[in-house]
Amino acid sequence: MEACKTGCMSALLMSLTISLLIRTSYGSSWTYRGDRGVNHWSALFPESCAGRSQSPVDLTPRNPRNPRNMRKNRQLGNFIFTNFNGVSDVVQQLSNTGLSVVMSYQSGDLRVSGGGLCSEFKVLQLHFHWGSLDTQGSEHTICGESYPMEMHVVTFNLKYDNLTNALNYADGLAVLGVFFKVGNSWNSNFDTITNALPSIMTPGSSIQLDPIPLDQLLPSNTKHYYRYQGSLTTPPCTEAVIWTVFRDPVTISYDQMEAFRALQSSERDEKSNGPLPLVDNYRPPQPLNGRKIKISFKGRQ
Ligand SMILES: *[C@@H]1O[C@H](CO)[C@@H](O)[C@H](O)[C@H]1NC(C)=O
Ligand SMILES: [Zn+2]
Repeated sequence: MEACKTGCMSALLMSLTISLLIRTSYGSSWTYRGDRGVNHWSALFPESCAGRSQSPVDLTPRNPRNPRNMRKNRQLGNFIFTNFNGVSDVVQQLSNTGLSVVMSYQSGDLRVSGGGLCSEFKVLQLHFHWGSLDTQGSEHTICGESYPMEMHVVTFNLKYDNLTNALNYADGLAVLGVFFKVGNSWNSNFDTITNALPSIMTPGSSIQLDPIPLDQLLPSNTKHYYRYQGSLTTPPCTEAVIWTVFRDPVTISYDQMEAFRALQSSERDEKSNGPLPLVDNYRPPQPLNGRKIKISFKGRQ
């Protein structure tokens, strides 16, 4: 990795029309199940979903010389999170897109830098992928093992001015991935989100949220993470993402997990035409095709 340039471009004042990456999914041309499901994306979107640097991937780091002993990458330092501790001017909306739950930022200036990223990135939205069972749901896997849920914080590189332009560059977006596991205790940091889910049961519905400090939604340890170069995990699968997946999962309660599983999908049952539960909205791991997975910690498998 080339050394980070010092002095990030000062941010331009932008009135961003935040076009959610997932917004198009409501009543969209792709789904997770059926004949427009994950296995058909590469035929439906051949330009990108059939590419060679797709996401997600299995994150088992590989060291051919010594597979049991991974080396920490010294370039992967600590992240700098700006305005993640609760700023008053943040306006957040939580939406059921029919294929995910998306929390979008209508205003507020949350930024990510450091962490081996050579620029400053602005937060656009976060969303979730989850399973019908605790044994599936995450997009990335570790040694083939899934977590029940994965959150993606989507940011774009401010040096490219806007999301549309950023999608043209390999370092256009940085997505932070957070694994979840299900435990016994209620996680009050997710109160605002899980309490709002019953209000957005149907696809297309949304609700305004009280500001949530974003750092409370991340694992307490953000120093330990995986890094690789990949794509959006939904069509158009654009290969413009620097991926970070934090090593340590966040724990939520069974009831909180069930609140996600109770939502309605935009996909319909073929026989009854009734709404299906919004579950299993994840893409399985894609081939690495020689890409390297770096780790910010000293690892042993
Ligand atoms: C996005 O940024 C590019 C490059 O600066 C610019 O040409 C384009 O007009 C911008 N698009 C929007 C929608 O603001
Ligand atoms: Zn995602």
